[in-house]
This record gives sequence, structure tokens and C-alpha cells, in this order.
Amino acid sequence: MACKQSSPRRGIPTQAVATRGFRVASDHGSRRFLASGAPLPVIFVGACTGPQSSLDPAGRAASSIADMFWVVLALSIVVWLAVIGVAIYAMRRNRDIASDHTGLWLILGGGVIIPTVVLSVLLVWSLGVMPTLREPSRPPALVVEISAERFWWRVRYRDANLVVDSANELRLPLGEPVEIILTSPDVIHSFWVPNLAGKMDAIPGRTTRLLLEPERVGRFRGQCAEFCGTSHAQMAFAVEVMPRAGFDRWIAAEARPAVPLAGAVLFETHGCGACHMIRGTAARGTAGPDLTHVGSRRTIAAAALPMREADLIRWIAHTEDVKPEVNMPSFAMLPRRDIEALATYLLALK
Ligand code: CUA
Repeated sequence: MACKQSSPRRGIPTQAVATRGFRVASDHGSRRFLASGAPLPVIFVGACTGPQSSLDPAGRAASSIADMFWVVLALSIVVWLAVIGVAIYAMRRNRDIASDHTGLWLILGGGVIIPTVVLSVLLVWSLGVMPTLREPSRPPALVVEISAERFWWRVRYRDANLVVDSANELRLPLGEPVEIILTSPDVIHSFWVPNLAGKMDAIPGRTTRLLLEPERVGRFRGQCAEFCGTSHAQMAFAVEVMPRAGFDRWIAAEARPAVPLAGAVLFETHGCGACHMIRGTAARGTAGPDLTHVGSRRTIAAAALPMREADLIRWIAHTEDVKPEVNMPSFAMLPRRDIEALATYLLALK
């Protein structure tokens, strides 16, 4: 692949970079930066790699899609250069020299024949690729049922031996086809892990399917790709591709009930169990995410926050601020020490 990793900050004046992401420190500096044309390559190259880039494929379907993108891009550049070349040529030469015959062929050739040939080749090629995106290289050993809910993902792993419930995180064995079965109880969402495959909508009243076949171990990020409400942008999820042995160990641990901890009593006392399931405790709710092993996940609230105690406290106390219009209410009315104890308990649910 022509695109290589590059620091997104390369080429940015030091004074323009604040400690948290990009923040322009002075109008003068930003104007000079923009006028230099530097943002274009920075944006272009920066978008080519990373945990949420379809141009950094780590799955069979994503590789086909990325190949297609580069071919279409190359062809587009050739066509663009040819058009610009002809335009410059036409501006420079004497108008009277070109005959009507030459002009007619230029219009027919450049405007009808070449576009028809180029677009037909691309159409036939893409129609040929589409079925291969749906056909696994061998029968999927693992099925993951995913329900796209109000700004979070309900996840159920299903194979010949077990059924395991989880949420907001997807783990996959390396090199094996996995069938994702998508549903939604409310509105249309769209499941998308750009590094692994294309998008697939989750539609109320229907079941849709997507095939993932990871080709590289790594951590990626999935995102809801269909506007579904106020917190649509915060409806993401962590993805981890692991070697088969590691995946087997992880799913065996995920299938077990939670370790007995004192915090379970507080969780039940404050009514959290009405919506959340923690297997092995009195918490049997199913309206919200299963939290049996929530402490082992990388993120909180469908990748809205990192999995840290301070962020768990923030989530419990200021739910609505972190994720507007989510179904879970804020619990700022609880005593601070109880919120802290709940966060400690959840983090310990490994
Ligand atoms: Cu769910 Cu956008």
C-alpha cells in the first residue's frame, strides 16, 4: 500500500499544537499554516492508517474495498490529468486550425466512448467483487448476534458449545470467518468496522448479515454509521482481533459468572439490577448492557469514555452530559461515596 503511517502533527507549527489535540494558539499562526497548504497532505495522509480506517485493511472484505478504492482513485487521476491537459492544449493553440471533424471525435471519444468503457469496466469488476464479500472462505464457526440499541450494542456470541452475552465490544478470532447477525429494536443503525469490512444496516423488523474475516491481530474501532439520534456519534465500539487460543481463553472467561464481590449489594440496593445483568448476582435486568465482565472492557458507554475509575464515576453521576438522550438516567443524587464504590465494583468485574 502506498500510504504509510505519518504523524498527524507533522508540519504543524509548535505554537499551534495544544496539549489536547489540535488547538490553534494564535490567529496569525493558523493563517500562516492554512496559507501554506500544509493541511491538505496532513489530512490526506493522516486518514490512511489507524484503528478506524478503511484504507488500512485488516480483513478480507476491507482489503477488496481498499484495492477498489486505489484503482478508482488512480483512474480518476488519469482522467483528471487528461481533461486538464486537453483544456490547456485548447487554450494555447489557434482555434482556426482544429477542424470540425477533430472536434467531433474529441467530444465523442472523450465524452462518450472513454467514460463508457472506463465505467463499464469498473461496474463489471465491482459486481464481481460483491458476492465474494458475502461468501466466507469456509463455513463460519462463530456467529455473533448484535442488536443496535439506543446508542449502544448488545452482543451475543454463539458457537456449537456456548452462548455468551456481552456489550459494546467485539472480540474475534484471527483468520476465521465470523457471521454477524444484525437487528435493531428502535431505529435504523449501521454497523461499521472500517478496517475489517464495509457497512451493514441494522433495521427494525429485519435481520441483516455481515461477514467479518480478520487477517491481522490488532485493536480497531467500530462506529454506528447511520444517524440514529442525538448521541449517534457516541455509538461506537472497541474491536479486538486475537489469535484463536487467546480468543478461546477470553470467551471461556466471559462465559463464567461474575466473581463474588461486596459491591454487588450496593449495585442491587440502588436498583442498577433492574436494567443490568451481572451473572452470578441478583442483578438480572436486560434493558441495558450486560455488565458481568465490564471491568475487562476497554471503554465505557459504547466507547464514549475510556475504562477508568474516574470516567466510571463521571458516567454514573453525569450520564446525560456524557451521552445526551441515552436511556440510562444520571445518578448524581446518590452519595458520592456510593458512586465511587459502584465504580470500584464495576472496574473489578474482570
Ligand atoms: Cu446508532 Cu447511529
